[in-house]
Formats: sequence, C-alpha cells, structure tokens
Amino acid sequence: MTPATPLLEVRGLTKRFGAQPALEDVSLAIAPGEVHAVAGENGAGKSTLMAILTGALTADEGALLWEGRPVSLPDVRAAQALGISMVHQEPQLVPSLGVAENICLGRLPHRLGAARLVDRTALRAAAQAALDTLRVGVPLSAAVREIGVAQRQLVAIARALHFGARLIILDEPTSSLSLDEVEALFATLRRLRGSGTALVYISHRLEELRAIADRVTVLRDGRVVATAPMTEMTQGALIAAMSGRELAADLQAGPPPPGTEPVLRVGGLSQSSRVHGVSLEVREGEVVGLAGLMGSGRSRTLRAIFGADRRDAGTVEVRTAGGWHPVRDVAGAIALGMGLVPEDRRALGLVLTASVLDNIGLRTPRGARRWGFLRARAIREVALAAMARLRIKARGVEAPVRTL
Ligand SMILES: Nc1ncnc2c1ncn2[C@@H]1O[C@H](COP(=O)(O)OP(=O)(O)OP(=O)(O)O)[C@@H](O)[C@H]1O
Ligand SMILES: [Mg+2]
Repeated sequence: MTPATPLLEVRGLTKRFGAQPALEDVSLAIAPGEVHAVAGENGAGKSTLMAILTGALTADEGALLWEGRPVSLPDVRAAQALGISMVHQEPQLVPSLGVAENICLGRLPHRLGAARLVDRTALRAAAQAALDTLRVGVPLSAAVREIGVAQRQLVAIARALHFGARLIILDEPTSSLSLDEVEALFATLRRLRGSGTALVYISHRLEELRAIADRVTVLRDGRVVATAPMTEMTQGALIAAMSGRELAADLQAGPPPPGTEPVLRVGGLSQSSRVHGVSLEVREGEVVGLAGLMGSGRSRTLRAIFGADRRDAGTVEVRTAGGWHPVRDVAGAIALGMGLVPEDRRALGLVLTASVLDNIGLRTPRGARRWGFLRARAIREVALAAMARLRIKARGVEAPVRTL
C-alpha cells in the first residue's frame, strides 16, 4: 500500500564541486515505511546525495519535497527538525558520555525554570523510550566508549528516534558488525519500517541490500541509472547498472586458466589461537576468496601471510622471475610485489588528510627511489597509472583522500 505522496521527494538535484558534477539531475522518491537502498560504485555520488538530504550540503539545482511540500534544508538542524536523521558508518557519538546523554545530546530535557540544569530522570526516561521503540537492551548508564560498535549503532538510531526522525539514513551501517549483529540490526530496522519510519540504506554489500531493501536506486557517475523494486532487480542487473558493464567474466569463478603457475604458496601457517595450519596457493590472474565468519581468522591469516604479524609456524613464498622467495616481513613482502588492502581502510590503510598521490606513494613504488631520494615524477606517474587502472574517481592526484 504505497501512499500517493512520498515522505521525501527529490527532483532534479545537481551538485558540482568545482566544474565536476558529483550529482546530475537526480530524482527519487522515498515512501513512508520503505527501506530504500542507494547503490553505486565508489564516487557515484551516494554520500553527496545523503549530505544534501541531511542538510550538510546544499544542492546547486533541484527541489526537495517533504510530504509533497517544497522545503529547503540550509543546515543539519533544519533537516532534523523536519524528521531526517543520519546514522554514519562510524556513529558520531561522544565516547566519554553515557548512553542516555548521547541519545539526548542536543535535545536534553531541562528542569522546569532552570535552563541549565538537566533533568536526569527525564533524560533517562526519554533515552529508555527510544531504546524501547527499538526493543534493544543497551545499558543506559554505560559510557559509549565501553560499548561495542553494534550497540553504538543502536544508540545512534535511538538518538535519531529521540529527535523525532521519520526518515533515517544509514551509511554502511554494517561494515564493522559480525553476522549476528547484522541480523539483530536488520530485525530492528524491520520493526522501524513496520512502524512507518522510512529508511535509506547505503551499502556495498549487495546481499545485504537484497535482504533488507524494498526498492533500490542505483547511481552511476552522479546520475540515477535505475530505480526498481529489489525483487525485480537480479544480482547481475544490479552489478551491470552500478558498473555500466555486463557482469565481467573475471567475476565468475572458474578453474584457473590452463598453463598458469602459482605465484603465492602458503604452507602450514599458524598464528596465535586463531590460525591453525593454513595452506593455500594463488595462481597468476586468479582471485581467491577467503570466507568465514567474523572472528574466524581471515584477517589474521592475511596479515600473517603479508608478514605484518609474527607467525608461529608455516612458510610463505612468492614466485618471481628468479624463482621462489620466502616472505619474512612486510618490507620483504612489498619488495616481492605483494600489497595488502586492510579491512578498515580508514584506520589501517590510508592517511585521509593526505592526497591520493601521497597515499599511493606511502609505500615507495619500484623505480621511484634513486640514491636514496624519492623521485617525485616517478611516483606521480605510478599514481596516475594506478588511478586509471583502478578507475579511482578524484579531481586529480592532489585531491585529499577524505574527499573520495
Ligand atoms: N568535498 C568534496 N570536494 C570535492 N569533490 C568531492 C567532495 N565530496 C565528493 N566529491 C566528489 O564527488 C563525487 C561523488 O562522491 P561521493 O563521495 O558522493 O561518492 P560515494 O558514492 O559516496 O562513494 P563511496 O562509495 O566511495 O563512499 C566523487 O567524484 C568525489 O570525488
Ligand atoms: Mg560515500
């Protein structure tokens, strides 16, 4: 029963950073009680769109309609007042404050006639009410720094509810959650949907979109390329819409091409209590998946292969033109042409305030060092080539990584 008037409608939004449009003529409608997925590759414009919907950015062109009435969202407060809240990937909470304070922060109940005295009883009651709506048990008096990521996520959602949110935007909410936590979060989101709250859900995990979303809008290069009920969008169609290409053959697993040789050999690798006697082989041109639940040792295995963590037992060897070489540590791994893209790229892999160029050059590319000096031009060329090959979207190699 889709009501005639959407809760929020976006018409012809355009947003440029400099000359480059990040969004072009974007239109979409979000119904009450709908989980609307927004999908797209890196740089497609998802975050820019969400920033506009939450008043963090203003559009250059286009209109926003709330329950059919044109509105302007000059700032985050205006969006919140209307009933639009955002839950970020890393919830923006104050770690030293309690759960109850975080839920109510910015909207604290005050004692009658004493504007500077917080009414503690009312505060706890309001926070509890928000958590009760979600039907989740998070200890009210715990400091946020003491609770886990999954619970922080719930606190952020409870906070949105306390602010009267009727549309909640979730940007990659599951990236640090275990499978069980994802299931619990989804159960909460479904209950919210059942109560008429609209949700906009951004994730790179297509199976998640399928599990939770009623409809999906796909952005590519700042434009809407598809909007459809999730059930009418096959996985292949979704990937094709996102990438603009048919499902690449290299995404389909198959036996390694004949005549290819192993380039990485891992034998009997053990590390701490999590990794026990792992052996595997990776051939030229091959993509090897490492599957397992959260905590099963996937990341540890990779870190041990890369030499980033001490190994207790086992061998790791890389083949080059000169034959097989043992990988003993990170420096050796890099020298042999190995790279590691860690799970949490913000925390482990990238310097967000530095440029794309400097981040690519963090590990000196081969040929860029001469007599102990870095050759700026060589690094720049390597960076440009890498950006083209990986289709990294940025204004240039000088763009700070946090703008990607
Ligand atoms: N503050 C900014 N200044 C300049 N360019 C920006 C800024 N924010 C985003 N862009 C550019 O706008 C485009 C869209 O970026 P956006 O962050 O919205 O993409 P996204 O879909 O959220 O990507 P991701 O999946 O990586 O989060 C990109 O080309 C990006 O480089
Ligand atoms: Mg983004």
